[in-house]
Amino acid sequence: MLLEGFQVKRALKEDSAAIKKIVEDLDLSYKGFEVSDFFVGKLDGKIVAIARVQAFDDILFLTCVGVIEKYQGRGIAKAFLEKLTAIHKDKDIYLNTVIPEFFQKLGFHSLDLLDPSLSELVKTLPPKKLFNCEECFPERCRFMVKRGEK
Ligand SMILES: CC(C)(COP(=O)(O)OP(=O)(O)OC[C@H]1O[C@@H](n2cnc3c(N)ncnc32)[C@H](O)[C@@H]1OP(=O)(O)O)[C@@H](O)C(=O)NCCC(=O)NCCS
Repeated sequence: MLLEGFQVKRALKEDSAAIKKIVEDLDLSYKGFEVSDFFVGKLDGKIVAIARVQAFDDILFLTCVGVIEKYQGRGIAKAFLEKLTAIHKDKDIYLNTVIPEFFQKLGFHSLDLLDPSLSELVKTLPPKKLFNCEECFPERCRFMVKRGEK
């Protein structure tokens, strides 16, 4: 699928309404809204994809990934997240998701937070409630990472 003219940009203040509409339409829960945390994917100037990248000290967390329904299934999320992860390629990017198969295709892999070797990381992670995870499907939720280039 050709995605000519597809652009990935950090969101601007004037993108707020379009981002909030996508969040609402796709039922993507979030707490707080800082437009500067968002990136947008634009096709022919129209915002069709969104994602939020929040920094917590040295940790990056990816949330609120969504593509407008009628644009889904065309490779937009793949193109969008490939660009987004390339922009942040020096850092590890973490996320919680109920669709790990999708993120696996983009180079993320699951981590088991009970693994003793991750105890230091666990101490530094932002609390799950920040992401409304408790209102989601905890039994299906996977914690994943895409490692940065060191
Ligand atoms: C999930 C979502 C972002 C995918 O967007 P999209 O633009 O349709 O995805 P793409 O077309 O780029 O798909 C890329 C690949 O992922 C696969 N894929 C897409 N959605 C998937 C899903 N829900 N589960 C597993 N795999 C999925 C595609 O089949 C494709 O595979 P391929 O490369 O082998 O052909 C979109 O469906 C969406 O916004 N859903 C609602 C919000 C949501 O669930 N966000 C994630 C919250 S953690």
